[in-house]
Amino acid sequence: MVYVTRKAHFSAAHRLYNPKFSEEKNEAVFDKCNNPRGHGHNYTIEVTVAGQPDPETGYVIDLKKLSAIIEEVILSKVDHKHLNFDVPEFTGIIPTAENIAVMFWRLLEPHITEGRLHKIRVAESDNNYAEYLGEPVELPHLYAAAGEARQSNTDQPFFH
Ligand code: NI
Repeated sequence: MVYVTRKAHFSAAHRLYNPKFSEEKNEAVFDKCNNPRGHGHNYTIEVTVAGQPDPETGYVIDLKKLSAIIEEVILSKVDHKHLNFDVPEFTGIIPTAENIAVMFWRLLEPHITEGRLHKIRVAESDNNYAEYLGEPVELPHLYAAAGEARQSNTDQPFFH
């Protein structure tokens, strides 16, 4: 088995906030990341595909092809967006690097038809990153339905 990795970058805003917590608890748990209007990151993602090199091309997967899939399935959705509000997939999901990695796996995995998706790494900064290798994991929704999220986002002074 050989592992090949494609790196990509995007910029996005997010806010870490749990409506089930009090304001005090949100601040204590999420600190600066709880800033009411959100904040931005220059994210780096790394997508690793595992497989046998093709006997004729020597490729596990053509990385140009992988790059195009990442662009279409992930970057076009999230680049220069506010993850909490502009990306329906994240409605009701706290957009931590952990949850972003799981969501990206779910979006990307069906499109990887050469080799198999092995790992997704999502880095918010040089110091912080999350990695997901596809083990079963919960991605709990904070709201019963998207409508409830939208309502609670606009009822209060600013998307509480
Ligand atoms: Ni952040």
